[in-house]
Amino acid sequence: MGANLMLFIFLFLSIISSFRADYVRPQPRQTLHFPRNPKSSSQPHQVHISLAGDKHMRVTWITKVHSAPSYVEYGTSPGEYTSVSQGESTSYSYIFYKSGKIHHTVIGPLKAGTLYYYRCGGEGSEFQLKTPPSQFPITFSVAGDLGQTGWTKSTLEHIDLCKYDVHLLPGDLSYADYLQYRWDTFGELVEPLASTRPWMVTQGNHEKEDLLIFKAPFDSYNARWKMPFEESGSSSNLYYSFEVAGTHVIMLGSYTDYDESSDQYAWLKADLAKVDRERTPWLVVLFHVPWYNSNKAHQGEGASMMAAMEPLLYTAGADIVISGHVHAYERSKRVYAGKSDPCGAVHITIGDGGNREGLAHKYNLQPEWSVFREASFGHGELKMVNLTHAFWSWHRNDDDEPVKSDQAWITSLVSSGCVTQKNHQLKKFR
Ligand SMILES: [Fe+2]
Repeated sequence: MGANLMLFIFLFLSIISSFRADYVRPQPRQTLHFPRNPKSSSQPHQVHISLAGDKHMRVTWITKVHSAPSYVEYGTSPGEYTSVSQGESTSYSYIFYKSGKIHHTVIGPLKAGTLYYYRCGGEGSEFQLKTPPSQFPITFSVAGDLGQTGWTKSTLEHIDLCKYDVHLLPGDLSYADYLQYRWDTFGELVEPLASTRPWMVTQGNHEKEDLLIFKAPFDSYNARWKMPFEESGSSSNLYYSFEVAGTHVIMLGSYTDYDESSDQYAWLKADLAKVDRERTPWLVVLFHVPWYNSNKAHQGEGASMMAAMEPLLYTAGADIVISGHVHAYERSKRVYAGKSDPCGAVHITIGDGGNREGLAHKYNLQPEWSVFREASFGHGELKMVNLTHAFWSWHRNDDDEPVKSDQAWITSLVSSGCVTQKNHQLKKFR
């Protein structure tokens, strides 16, 4: 190959790579058009699973007919169901909309790290699920503010590529926003993923859907996305906790009372007092509205919840706090009370799953605690490698290809001695 040709190829590649460096942020995409669902009225729709206490899983699905039964048959070989569990059901009305029958059935005890085959209500296709491991390593995928646009589809495809065990969603699921059929289309959209791995969610403002005195907030969300609140001693589906493979995960509600006299505050205090850092060295917390946010969007909205609850999480030694709401990505250093603190939590804002409202491009001056921020769609992966180290990465949707744009090793507060230091303060919770 001649020297001139080599020089030409080099210059060509340099120009291409310089274009890649100047990343052009994508425009929002439209809500997807969903074809009419060909399933019969008693066939299960919108199947998703969630963790439901030690060694148990809740299977949720919807049928159009209300006479369909709520049992789940399951086993470890295809078509051979060695166990059956009977569940419960609910439904709701919303102005002229009447939901199908929403079935919730808890199955178990299940073996860890095992593939199970299951069928809902004796009808329709066989599904399969994989239970999470009982020990490290475990991988969580994370995406908030999903919606149901072309970007959502792209994010879901990227999540599907990563070998995750449990999905975490810090609020704003369907963007139904009062149009109830959108809950159904969202359920269909996420079914291929949410029927195979547990999806653990908390609620955002788009789940509220209250109507003056006619409709209480979160009715549709609570009916469709039942989480293990009873299993974790909570009286509300809006805040709960679960444990999986050395990690204690707490889901909080940004839109329910959180001051010192509230039920949520009392439950959080009691839940933190129960955490055994030998059994679960990692403490991860999720809620919708971020406390550490240098984007101009939703600036200060999390301040009052932060004032009430951040001291509790700090005393308990929360390692990682994940939120959504702001349609951009940001990762902080370990912080507490607005400043870097080696015993504080790493805060991650990841409200960029792909919703129809688009991205939040405008930022304030970058504070000292902010390590990385970018207004792009994407998802996160959090791998708890062992009791001392976790690996976090954020994957940007770059022209529909997942591009790992931010990554960090996180050292646990247990291994850095912060949890031992705070032990005497923690006793006050008990
Ligand atoms: Fe939100």
